[in-house]
Amino acid sequence: MALSAEDAKTASAVWEKIYTDVEDNGAVVLSRMFKEHHHTVSYFKNFTQLQSVAETASAQEIAALAEVRTHGKKVFSALNDMVSHLTNVDALKGTIAPLAKKHATELKVDVKDFVIIFENLLDLIGEKQGGDAKEAFKKVTDVMYEEIKAAY
Ligand code: HEM
Repeated sequence: MALSAEDAKTASAVWEKIYTDVEDNGAVVLSRMFKEHHHTVSYFKNFTQLQSVAETASAQEIAALAEVRTHGKKVFSALNDMVSHLTNVDALKGTIAPLAKKHATELKVDVKDFVIIFENLLDLIGEKQGGDAKEAFKKVTDVMYEEIKAAY
């Protein structure tokens, strides 16, 4: 399923503002996931700073870790690629499928954990840009999640 040209335009404008501050916003979304859904920390075995402080640190402290900030940029950069293909379902699938397959087979991430990241991202959008923006971008995360599940 692709988005209508109008929905894609609205959602892209929402995303552009969030992506302007990619490092902070990426780290906030990840740190909230680690703090609120502790099992997600265990996927990130290579993140030694995270592993040592995850039990005790606040979400703000986790968001300040270099490895979380770097990873936040990678995640947001991948989302940025997806957002650029919202009206072209084949291109969207082509961007999502390899990443979804890697998470499914190599990283062994439960597909339901994607819901956590998307909810955290939508909450951040709501905080920064209000309910209409959150609703507009939910159409995007719904499509992304559908395509991720299809590729899993
Ligand atoms: C919006 C959803 C997500 C996007 C766009 C995304 C994107 C990415 C990207 C681009 C990479 C780097 C891949 C590479 O180096 O080839 C990655 C790695 C990884 N992702 Fe995700 N991801 C998402 C959701 C998740 C979720 C929900 C989890 C688990 C809770 C997760 C766990 C991981 C892990 C463990 C790695 C490897 C980290 C490392 O050791 O460097 N991802 N992800």
